Amino acid sequence: MSGHDMNAMTQGAIMLPEGEALRALPLLANEAARPSMFKAKLTAEAAIARITEGLETPILAYNGSSPGPLIEAFEGDRVEITFANRINSEASTIHWHGMPVPADQDGNPMDPVAAGADRVYAFDLPEGSAGSYWYHPHPHGRTAEQVYRGLAGAFVVKSKADPVPAEYGDMVLMLTDLRLAADGSIPGNTMTDLMNGRVGDQVLVNGQRNPRLAVAKGDRRRLRLYNATNARFLKLAFEGAAMTIVGTDGGLIEAPVAADEILLSPGERIELVVAFDSPGLATLGTLDYDRGWMGAGRPADAGLTLLTVDVSETPGAAMPPLPTRLRPIAPLSAPAVSRRLIFAEIMAMNATGMEMGFLINGKAFDMARIDIVSRAGETELWEIVNQADMDHPFHVHGTQFQVIEHERDGKVSKPPFVAWKDTVNVARGETVRLLLRQEQPGRRMYHCHILEHEQLGMMGVLDVR
Ligand code: C2O
Ligand code: CU
Repeated sequence: MSGHDMNAMTQGAIMLPEGEALRALPLLANEAARPSMFKAKLTAEAAIARITEGLETPILAYNGSSPGPLIEAFEGDRVEITFANRINSEASTIHWHGMPVPADQDGNPMDPVAAGADRVYAFDLPEGSAGSYWYHPHPHGRTAEQVYRGLAGAFVVKSKADPVPAEYGDMVLMLTDLRLAADGSIPGNTMTDLMNGRVGDQVLVNGQRNPRLAVAKGDRRRLRLYNATNARFLKLAFEGAAMTIVGTDGGLIEAPVAADEILLSPGERIELVVAFDSPGLATLGTLDYDRGWMGAGRPADAGLTLLTVDVSETPGAAMPPLPTRLRPIAPLSAPAVSRRLIFAEIMAMNATGMEMGFLINGKAFDMARIDIVSRAGETELWEIVNQADMDHPFHVHGTQFQVIEHERDGKVSKPPFVAWKDTVNVARGETVRLLLRQEQPGRRMYHCHILEHEQLGMMGVLDVR
């Protein structure tokens, strides 16, 4: 596609209005009658979003809201959530992304909830599990579409002894992206969308385009950033404010780490403390990142402003400093087993058209096949080898892992800090090594979190015994 066509496409795109005050996500009310319990209902159903004057966009929503309501519970809580699937004639599930829930409560594709049916998901949140998790549907073959039509929400597990000062607040920023047809509807996928994963033409923060937030000079804010897009890589930087990483997918890291930019691949989360010390405007925006693109029309990913912060001239109340230690992370024991997972795509033209495959160890997903058998409680070394022409974010259910090294072109590097992760980008031509231990028996999924790739077969089944 020529540059001229790209411009025409951008001009025609229906964009949300920008510059409205940033809204916090609606909180899912806890209906439990006793302490240490979280009880609620989530209903998935069709809804209408009013994007701009006179346009209606049919979407899917949890309890009428997209992103879905924010769930906040504490370590040690018992959780019981009734899921009502009111999506017209489509099975769904709720998958608790990153959370250590039993396999039969994980909402995986083998455990669908039929259209019109209800089910209760029940699990305990262990001590030490505080972190920034999320929930989304995971039905066989329909995950990508249900998520991009609006079904995704944040699930924050809090600790009662949190070292990050309460004065910083605690805000979730769910990053999603959206593309609209001229009539305001969300179009179906093209071949390009399937190959690359669906990338929208606007990135939204809590459902808003470039919303505004006002803070006082000297304020510190704790922000939990979620990449809840299907397929957009977000290389993020703050202009006019200083970012410090305090946590990853599975909670706090050991000590704060200053960062100029952050790459958040689909499915990943990061917890930041942002210091607003210069009056004026501070902006959270995107930088260019080439994650590999098949075919024409790679969307421009640099220069988008996601959030604009007005920092006052007059300083606010003094904020307590961030502690220099956050929490210890115990290393995993030496691995008893090591495994190699090779991610590859095949693209070939044949007599019947384009043949496309997204494979792990040469195979496409088969729900009836067990690909790996692991023992509960045993540490394993997983080596994820990306032989494809695109980056693929690797995700595994049921546990958090620790990345130990990245290797590319024979060069080995260690991650800059120890962290609990459930999703990690494996760049083109890269190998990522990680330590993983599943504690609970049952079947688990592992897959690429570009959801169209998951749909096209880049997923396997792990049986923990
Ligand atoms: Cu966020 Cu298997 O998924
Ligand atoms: Cu992928």
